[in-house]
Amino acid sequence: MTRNPAAAADGAPRNASPAGPPVRADRWTRSFHTRRDSTVRLVCFPHAGGAANSFAALSAALSEDVQLLAVQYPGRQDRHFEPCAEDIATLAEGVAGALASADDRPLFLLGHSMGALVAFETARLLEERGTVAGLFVSAARPPAQDWEEPDLDSLGDDDLVAGLRRLGGVPDALLRDPETLGEVLRVLRADHRLLRRYHCDEGTALRTPITVLLAAEDPKNALAQMREWSRHTESAYDVETIEGGHFALTERAGATAGLLLRRTAGTARPRDETPGTGTPVPADLVREIYLAGPTAAAERITTDLTGLDAAARALLTPNAYGYVSGNAGTGATARANRAAFDRWSLVPRMLRGVTSRDLSVSLFGQRLASPVLLAPVAAQTVVHPGGELAAVKGAARVGVPFVLSSFSCHTMEEVAREAGPGPRWFQLYWPSDDEVAESLTRRAEASGYSALVLTVDNPAFGYRPADLDHGYLPFVQGAGLANFASDPVFRASLPENAGPGDVVRHWAAISANPGLTWDRLPRLRELTRLPILVKGVLHPDDARLALDRGADGIVVSNHGGRQLDGSIAALDALPAVRAAVGNHVPVLMDSGVRTGSDVVKALALGADAVLYGRPYQYGLALDGERGVHHVLRCLLAELDLALTLIGCDAVRAVDRDLLTPAGTAFGPVSPAGGAPGTRPAAGAPGTR
Ligand code: FNR
Ligand code: LAC
Repeated sequence: MTRNPAAAADGAPRNASPAGPPVRADRWTRSFHTRRDSTVRLVCFPHAGGAANSFAALSAALSEDVQLLAVQYPGRQDRHFEPCAEDIATLAEGVAGALASADDRPLFLLGHSMGALVAFETARLLEERGTVAGLFVSAARPPAQDWEEPDLDSLGDDDLVAGLRRLGGVPDALLRDPETLGEVLRVLRADHRLLRRYHCDEGTALRTPITVLLAAEDPKNALAQMREWSRHTESAYDVETIEGGHFALTERAGATAGLLLRRTAGTARPRDETPGTGTPVPADLVREIYLAGPTAAAERITTDLTGLDAAARALLTPNAYGYVSGNAGTGATARANRAAFDRWSLVPRMLRGVTSRDLSVSLFGQRLASPVLLAPVAAQTVVHPGGELAAVKGAARVGVPFVLSSFSCHTMEEVAREAGPGPRWFQLYWPSDDEVAESLTRRAEASGYSALVLTVDNPAFGYRPADLDHGYLPFVQGAGLANFASDPVFRASLPENAGPGDVVRHWAAISANPGLTWDRLPRLRELTRLPILVKGVLHPDDARLALDRGADGIVVSNHGGRQLDGSIAALDALPAVRAAVGNHVPVLMDSGVRTGSDVVKALALGADAVLYGRPYQYGLALDGERGVHHVLRCLLAELDLALTLIGCDAVRAVDRDLLTPAGTAFGPVSPAGGAPGTRPAAGAPGTR
């Protein structure tokens, strides 16, 4: 008889087996279904005593989008004649080696029970190449915790079998067959030796986001223990609860597959649609432009991201240009925003062999193609008739999320339709009518916006001389009110047969809300399941207040200098806000970001991502959807190149050590390395 311990110990329902035997992709991984058009790879690591077969049913339940590879440990099933591994590191090295071949699909790892530790160690190795999109762990205590596993070598067979029955996962019939049982126990004992030998320091943290899949009735793992997994990532951490016991992951394969599809959707690297580019590497834009030559360049919008303003000015009416470019008062805040970036210099590192860069980031469990989102900007038909519809399409082409302003010229539902699968968030201005605010929030959630950005720095419009001199505000002309005009709650307050003038008047009556306080935040928290970010925070105490009242993230911003003249630069406010909220709360920033190097500086000072504002409005003004697309490609190309030039293979690797205050000597320059010339303290402490 062919000995096949895993057939007994895998915990997978027999009736869900695929048609044929699993395919041996390499020594370490098996696949049950070939999905050539898949956009995501999911590598699954079995539990102690388990084998690749554990994941057959899960593979069957996944869609064409996900290629599942199940890890086959030595010493079992078709690797029966190899000795079992001596330690978990050996397993991780084997799998990491097998996964080494280049693949542009996002790679997720999923480990069940002991498999979670092997997956964790594999992620550590793969991260050196910057290639892991996410780690899912199930039924497993965190690596640095003592698993309190009994020494199975000193435990009799009967006790062992009783334990297996309690936990489930091995069909009783197989436990009654002496030959199979012998194999199950041999493999189980070997794997438990690995577990008992395993050690991980508390400070060991991945750059990969971790999601814990917590089975509600698992006797072996409780939420309190699982939380400690958060210490093992510098990136996002969250928990998904699943129904069932220790083997729920594979026993309820359909439910697990649904969850995994949801969590991995939208992570595929966007493929740029521009004819002739053919590759999603952002920095390739540069080569493309040089190959296209001087004639093509003469027809293209400038690639100088600080030169877009002048180009748009030449095209727009003074009213429109004044509205977009205008600042509060003397423009001191807007100048401070730029000056703050210039006060930092990057200190690049050489010869680090950075051949590819991972620009992706994870926010609130959402994987973003890059650390860039489009800032909410009101009334976009002011600069181009396509307005928000054109902008969202331009952004979706490079996978950049669009944050839609409350004050948009197309309804949030129209924008959602146009965005297709492109990621989008909704920015909320909380008007003085709570019910309108609640209605907008419900509509945003219903139409697929995946986060809410509550802007708090606009209790009144700032004093903006450009708009005042023109006597021009888009909203008074009826632009930017689509979400209100289409809202049933808002409309209920209007007279029957209300016209555009009535909409403007009622909007003007409720839109300014200087009476708003932090107390409204818990109400919003109750109202929506979406992550809430508070935008417009500059003081660390306000960041704490926001989190205390239920916010999930902060946007450090001074509204691009459009609100308070003489305000602190957003970049200068960032480090203290990051320090106040700690490392695990998403902090975004905007106001003054123009170039790829600016993005790197913001990340180095504590931001997880930036919002990009006026430059994309200028792109929209110059060429609609194509203009937005062009501007974003330039920004991402410059960011990608900046990473290459500073020697970082991933945005996650950007840290404070890359920065020094501009115009000052760097590092210890005196022979003794003493105080004179030592690198000056760089503002508030870095915390990333
Ligand atoms: C904005 N901004 C903004 N913010 C917001 O929360 N809701 C809104 O409706 C608008 N509207 C708006 C209109 C225009 C024309 C501009 C330029 C900006 C602020 C925006 O989200 C962001 O904070 C700034 O644009 C950042 O400054 P820079 O980098 O664009 O200078
Ligand atoms: C502005 C508002 C709408 O900056 O946020 O114009």
